Amino acid sequence: MAVILEINHLTKKFGGLTAVNDFSMNVTDDNIHALIGPNGSGKTTTINMISGVLEATSGEILYKGQSLIGKSSDEISRMGIVRTFQNIKLFDSLSVIENAMVGGHAFTNVKMTESLLNFKKRAEEEKMLREKAEEALNYVGLYDLRNENVKNMPYGKQKMLELGRSLMSDPKVLLLDEPAAGLTPTERMELMHMLEKIFAKGVNLFLVEHNMDVVMNLCHQITVLSFGVKIAENDPTGIQNDPEVIKAYLGERYNKRA
Ligand SMILES: Nc1ncnc2c1ncn2[C@@H]1O[C@H](COP(=O)(O)OP(=O)(O)O)[C@@H](O)[C@H]1O
Ligand SMILES: [Mg+2]
Repeated sequence: MAVILEINHLTKKFGGLTAVNDFSMNVTDDNIHALIGPNGSGKTTTINMISGVLEATSGEILYKGQSLIGKSSDEISRMGIVRTFQNIKLFDSLSVIENAMVGGHAFTNVKMTESLLNFKKRAEEEKMLREKAEEALNYVGLYDLRNENVKNMPYGKQKMLELGRSLMSDPKVLLLDEPAAGLTPTERMELMHMLEKIFAKGVNLFLVEHNMDVVMNLCHQITVLSFGVKIAENDPTGIQNDPEVIKAYLGERYNKRA
């Protein structure tokens, strides 16, 4: 077991509001780790700080011992920490494969200016990107739909494409913000199998999720936030039986039949 992400006393203030308050947590490589809690409890803000989208007010974030504080989101994604968004961010006017290719663009060796000046390099780059995108789409089961326009695809497939695109950069850690939101039960099953497959090939997973079916069946370690404060951390059984978690969160929404 190795610590992948170490968060120490992380705090984020928006004016007078403390969205994340003195939060500490370790994500280890042997666990799929979930962050749960009521709406507004600071989950997305936490992912935003880890991925460099937001600057922390104070505290520490370490990736394999190396500080991420002060690094840009580009630098952090180049280190292998890649996130998806709570609201899908795909290009409606592009095809499935083009959307996947966009995800890999920042990671090719040819600089944009150079590639614009050098058609040969640009063609090579595009060929490489296309092959990589085909591979990623094949991995997530979307190869046959590669030439479809994304806006014609069901929401579940769009979310799968977003996941496929995130694989384009060969991530070491995926940060997923509500990957199951809006999915049908069948799509949720597909997502869980896909995430298990991705974890099994050695990609570390940290997800924010509301769907308790996904949280309890997929994840091994769960951290609970309430009003920006960590109130519990345990395995699924421990979390389901934690009176404080039931009071703050699960009581209102968790149904074991779900
Ligand atoms: N950019 C921002 N500016 C001001 N307040 C924000 C911003 N982002 C989030 N917040 C506030 O911080 C709190 C935590 O939000 P968020 O992290 O999105 O919660 P969650 O993802 O757990 O639902 C909320 O009260 C939210 O309104
Ligand atoms: Mg959120």
